[in-house]
Amino acid sequence: MHPRRTAINMKTIIEPFKIKSIEPINFTTEREREAYLRRAFYNMFLLPAEEVLIDLLTDSGTSAMSARQWAGMMEGDEAYAGAKSFFRFEHKVRQLTGLRYIIPTHQGRAAEKILFTIVGGKGKYIPNNSHFDTTRANIEFSGAEAVDFPTQEGRDPDVIADFKGNMDVTGLEEFIVRVGATNIPLCMMTVTNNSGGGQPVSMQNIRETKAVCTKHGIPLFLDACRFAENAYFIKKREKGYADVPVKDIVKEMFSYADGSTMSAKKDAIVNMGGFLALNDEALATQARNLLIVTEGFPTYGGLAGRDLEAIAQGLEEVLDEHYLHYRIRSVEYLGERLSTAGVPILQPPGGHAIYLNAKKFLPHVPVEEYPGQSVVVELYRLGGIRSVEIGSVMFGKYDQQGKLIPARMELVRLAIPRRVYTQSHIDYVIEVVIEAHQRQNVLKGYRIIEEAPMLRHFTAKFEPIA
Ligand code: F0G
Repeated sequence: MHPRRTAINMKTIIEPFKIKSIEPINFTTEREREAYLRRAFYNMFLLPAEEVLIDLLTDSGTSAMSARQWAGMMEGDEAYAGAKSFFRFEHKVRQLTGLRYIIPTHQGRAAEKILFTIVGGKGKYIPNNSHFDTTRANIEFSGAEAVDFPTQEGRDPDVIADFKGNMDVTGLEEFIVRVGATNIPLCMMTVTNNSGGGQPVSMQNIRETKAVCTKHGIPLFLDACRFAENAYFIKKREKGYADVPVKDIVKEMFSYADGSTMSAKKDAIVNMGGFLALNDEALATQARNLLIVTEGFPTYGGLAGRDLEAIAQGLEEVLDEHYLHYRIRSVEYLGERLSTAGVPILQPPGGHAIYLNAKKFLPHVPVEEYPGQSVVVELYRLGGIRSVEIGSVMFGKYDQQGKLIPARMELVRLAIPRRVYTQSHIDYVIEVVIEAHQRQNVLKGYRIIEEAPMLRHFTAKFEPIA
């Protein structure tokens, strides 16, 4: 058995940092929260953050920066063109990815928008292990089609396997042959696989995907938001990597990439930022021209000089293996405690989040009554914890008769911000989730009383079903 599955006997994982600056959190009572819920129509996105005790809505842009990052911000060079901070950022990203042309953007989706405006369009297809929603949206907005190739085990929430984020390489190749390589401007690979449960991709799978791409003359791009978490999983789980420094694993991962999009709001441990990195000079020129129209001059691309400093520093800190051990282990700890208590989670724990399996959590609530939303509401009502439904509220569609076409899974994501919460916060989350699970029989479904035609989960209004 793999060491991570016996890890429960290890010593307490301590946070690999001391706390220098703190931000108070606001305590509320159940009664107050019930009133807040009514006012927000039971939608977590409509709650002011001040009314939340532990905010697990996302791990994106919610990290705590280090003293060195804050110090770097004071060093930020705010020159419009050619700022010193840009060159430090460019050097760091180049060193990390080995890619030639480094284009800063204000966040991940801005890099996606630029990339797919250039290579997308009607009749084109973009494969991926699993597209994140903004990637899919940017591809579809260009007129192209976004296609997912998860593996069989990656689709099953109960299977415990090491690399459930992998690409179905056979499926990918069949697809390439069927639609024709000329209609596939590039292939993407998302590490870790967020839509598939924060699950990692193995080096072997990246290598095999690259081989298929090379055979058909298709460039491979990494969606690298959580590259360091993925690399740490490779170190822990893949044969031959136990003694390889994470830094070198990252280098190898990127050695198979012809380009990359990155949301720095994840593994660069900053609150805002991203980049597009490319090897193709002609593509880089087009991207820079578009960047000037949409984001800014190529040496700042929608960011302040101080943001570029913080990203450069964060990209160094994220490779610290004590940090990565604490990061991956604390998420795993949350997952282990919940499963031991009988709470159904997507297995195994992901790198940045635990996903509760709401279909099993509330087996008596039909998908038309959004069991995930019911769990989300209860976690907030009981303990002030904000989570997010990733199920039929987020991905559900309607058929011609107006009947719900449900999502493949009904999940509730507990995403863990980087370096923000301590183990006692996590222990508290465990207690609240277990208590909510014990109350499963009294929890009811929800109906949507108002919704937008697109991305409805952000603004939908709900009411409990009596
Ligand atoms: N790709 C992946 C895999 C992501 O998880 C995200 C963002 C993006 C791209 C887009 O980056 O937000 O900087 O524009 N994920 C966040 C989340 C929002 O909550 O999982 P962005």
